[in-house]
Amino acid sequence: MRAALVLVSTLACAGSAFAASAFTFEPPAASPESSSANYTGQTNNTLSNGPLVPGKAFDRFIQIWIENTDYETAASSPVFQNLSTQGLLLDSFYAVTHPSEPNYIAAVGGDFFGAGDDNFYHIPQNISSVVDLLEEKNVSWASYQENMPYDGFTSFNFTSEDYLNGNGTYTYYVRKHNGLIIFDSVANVSSRALRIRNFNDFANDVKADVIPQWSFVTPNLVNDGHDTTIDFVGDWLNYWLVPLLADTKFNNNRTLILLTFDETETYTINNRIYTLVLGGGLPENLRNTTDSTFYTHYTALSTVEANWGLKALGRGDTNTTLNNVIDFVAKKTNWTNNGLAGNDTRIPLLNITGTIPGPLNAEFYIPFVAPNTSGVSAGGQGVFVSPLLDTALTLAKAPQPVNLTASGQANPWGTDPGFNYANGTEVIQPPAASASSTAPAGGKNAAVKLGAGVREGLLVVVGAVVGALMLL
Ligand SMILES: *[C@@H]1O[C@H](CO)[C@@H](O)[C@H](O)[C@H]1NC(C)=O
Ligand SMILES: *[C@@H]1O[C@H](CO)[C@@H](O)[C@H](O)[C@H]1NC(C)=O
Ligand SMILES: *[C@@H]1O[C@H](CO)[C@@H](O)[C@H](O)[C@H]1NC(C)=O
Ligand SMILES: *[C@@H]1O[C@H](CO)[C@@H](O)[C@H](O)[C@H]1NC(C)=O
Ligand SMILES: *[C@@H]1O[C@H](CO)[C@@H](O)[C@H](O)[C@H]1NC(C)=O
Ligand SMILES: *[C@@H]1O[C@H](CO)[C@@H](O)[C@H](O)[C@H]1NC(C)=O
Ligand SMILES: *[C@@H]1O[C@H](CO)[C@@H](O)[C@H](O)[C@H]1NC(C)=O
Ligand SMILES: *[C@@H]1O[C@H](CO)[C@@H](O)[C@H](O)[C@H]1NC(C)=O
Ligand SMILES: *[C@@H]1O[C@H](CO)[C@@H](O)[C@H](O)[C@H]1NC(C)=O
Ligand SMILES: *[C@@H]1O[C@H](CO)[C@@H](O)[C@H](O)[C@H]1NC(C)=O
Ligand SMILES: *[C@@H]1O[C@H](CO)[C@@H](O)[C@H](O)[C@H]1NC(C)=O
Ligand SMILES: *[C@@H]1O[C@H](CO)[C@@H](O)[C@H](O)[C@H]1NC(C)=O
Repeated sequence: MRAALVLVSTLACAGSAFAASAFTFEPPAASPESSSANYTGQTNNTLSNGPLVPGKAFDRFIQIWIENTDYETAASSPVFQNLSTQGLLLDSFYAVTHPSEPNYIAAVGGDFFGAGDDNFYHIPQNISSVVDLLEEKNVSWASYQENMPYDGFTSFNFTSEDYLNGNGTYTYYVRKHNGLIIFDSVANVSSRALRIRNFNDFANDVKADVIPQWSFVTPNLVNDGHDTTIDFVGDWLNYWLVPLLADTKFNNNRTLILLTFDETETYTINNRIYTLVLGGGLPENLRNTTDSTFYTHYTALSTVEANWGLKALGRGDTNTTLNNVIDFVAKKTNWTNNGLAGNDTRIPLLNITGTIPGPLNAEFYIPFVAPNTSGVSAGGQGVFVSPLLDTALTLAKAPQPVNLTASGQANPWGTDPGFNYANGTEVIQPPAASASSTAPAGGKNAAVKLGAGVREGLLVVVGAVVGALMLL
């Protein structure tokens, strides 16, 4: 968001009316199913999935996230208007805060943990994500990140050859749009981290017919509209999504596709974003129609929980104000939504940012707390509890928020955990000497910080150490 604004002003100074005028869409590859050096990362063979796990309403859920657009702007785009005739328009769907990163974290983690910026964060290993829920029921998953240099890449961003303008290099990939890698429970476990793949892998996986049952797709910073306009995104959708809709290896009669935005461009309005449900799994009678049920990014969690009978994370996904399940899925799974719809005045403000206490907010810092372990998922199941979680530190018992910035302390979760996967080989780099050794103000965490050297396989040892750390 901030970067885009800087770009606007820079170009305006250079005499250009709009930032976007510098960018004309060019296809990064011959087709969505072709590999391309423009995607940067090489493919790492095909994804390996277990047997299909049938869902109650669909068997495959593909989320595609594009960026920073007010509802009305998307609604005015001919490409979105055309897609809406094939899909179900959700016209009361809301992002949960600003800016980008907390929304991406929320959609896979059920909370944004107070984050109010796009900084480097990581979330400790015993805080769960949708991956824990999916894997517990053997539902295959992956994330596809355009222009990520290699699978499981943990760094803040990546700059590669500028294929669009032939203008040297361009930062096409950013970690802030890759929600799952921010969770140490994914990044620290190589078998999980390596399921975060690039677009050459995607091309390979579609051709091999192994697109998993749950996936999250993040186009690069020009194709997702972050640095460009809704018209550029429209050109990308016509190039990438439209042909894939006709390919049963991507979209079969049990596939649902959720095409949505991370947030509105304008912060001073509530966060309503234009969202379409597409795919062969959408009942025929719902095509070219509108559903005005109140939905949020937590809907993407509750809907898959309902579909596969998954547990919940016990965060936004069990908050009955925010967790409505996509209506036709709710009906097929016997879940009852809360009745909020349209412009109901009880719809909460979801444009609040920066002032929500949490462990990713240096100015209103509280430790990571346990989820609501007595919550019930939309799949009728309980809450997933990570083996290393201290469930005693609940939100009610959390200390008052403190201002770490005022006391000169860095956010302890803002440091690079110090490892990467260089082409599949894990490389552990010592973390920069910084706040990571500082005890966070506010006392203990339900999620005790695990050292940068802590890897899968050492969890047993860690379990013993955690008990001791809890007493500090
Ligand atoms: C090309 O790069 C230069 C320097 O980074 C920048 O000032 C200029 O705006 C870029 N041009 C385009 C068309 O992106
Ligand atoms: C890379 O992008 C440029 C610009 O769109 C295009 O001319 C070129 O063909 C692309 N490369 C591949 C391998 O598709
Ligand atoms: C979509 O619905 C509108 C009316 O709401 C109708 O005019 C239009 O023809 C329909 N389009 C398709 C492709 O069914
Ligand atoms: C990329 O990351 C570096 C730090 O690693 C930062 O200085 C730079 O501003 C970032 N660029 C973008 C476009 O995010
Ligand atoms: C869905 O597709 C499968 C095979 O591709 C076919 O066997 C089945 O009948 C189709 N179901 C419906 C409802 O069209
Ligand atoms: C959030 O949106 C409402 C309008 O729905 C507006 O009144 C309020 O000022 C906005 N809040 C912020 C922080 O911009
Ligand atoms: C559920 O969400 C609403 C709306 O954001 C919020 O006011 C409420 O505090 C949340 N409930 C819990 C238990 O967190
Ligand atoms: C939903 O409830 C109906 C009526 O009680 C029942 O027939 C159906 O099997 C239930 N469906 C599911 C998915 O539990
Ligand atoms: C809410 O109200 C606005 C302004 O009246 C209208 O444009 C919009 O369609 C309404 N949204 C829904 C979901 O009814
Ligand atoms: C936290 O402290 C910083 C530095 O003193 C200050 O700029 C900021 O306004 C404080 N934040 C709050 C919410 O008081
Ligand atoms: C990954 O492999 C590619 C192709 O072999 C190579 O160009 C690149 O330098 C490698 N990256 C790392 C970090 O090893
Ligand atoms: C490819 O992924 C597998 C696990 O899925 C991993 O073992 C291997 O090291 C990876 N190779 C590369 C080149 O990324």
